[in-house]
Amino acid sequence: MTDNIKWHSGRVTYQDRCKLLGQKGLVVWFTGLSGSGKSTIAVDVERGLFEQGRAVYRLDGDNVRHGLNAGLGFSKDDRDENIRRVAEVAVLFKDAGLITLVSFISPLRAQRALAREKAGEGFIEIYVKADVETCAKRDPRGLYEKARSGEISDFTGVSAPYEEPDHPELIINTAVMSLEDCVAAVLKFIL
Ligand code: ADX
Repeated sequence: MTDNIKWHSGRVTYQDRCKLLGQKGLVVWFTGLSGSGKSTIAVDVERGLFEQGRAVYRLDGDNVRHGLNAGLGFSKDDRDENIRRVAEVAVLFKDAGLITLVSFISPLRAQRALAREKAGEGFIEIYVKADVETCAKRDPRGLYEKARSGEISDFTGVSAPYEEPDHPELIINTAVMSLEDCVAAVLKFIL
């Protein structure tokens, strides 16, 4: 498939971009159940980093599924493709020198391992931990209720698997920590 295309090297390197921005590019990968708090934490972490003068960008599962990944559903194959694409985008953003915050359920270890492998150095996996019951209690859009009644199929934690990370760089337990403490812990780790 790539037979007739070739790689064009540029004259601006990753190191050049980092020097200009005064920071290293990173992929900060938030994983966890729907309703665990990934997006909420990432939004505040993005704001916090921005206010400290960092170049930062957030890629959110729900948002990316409106555009680049519109058309992908929640079968294993579609989720694999969803994660593959966002991992590629995150790597490009990292190469641009940005602190890239990625909040996708990314339920399977193999999906996250792929993202880690593509990103290379500067990949931080954060497990946003909350048990299914806690997430189902929050359920701002009633998705767990719909999943339990069968109205939504393949729902992570109900009718589709979630594999906990084995060795995440950081675990944030949102069932017991306040949002402020979660955000502070992530900022501390990144900075
Ligand atoms: S992932 O599993 O492919 O990484 P992603 O993070 O992009 O998922 O999207 C998850 C969001 O899609 C959830 O926050 C929720 O709003 C919505 N959603 C809709 N259907 C499902 C489903 N079957 N399982 C999980 N999330 C779903």
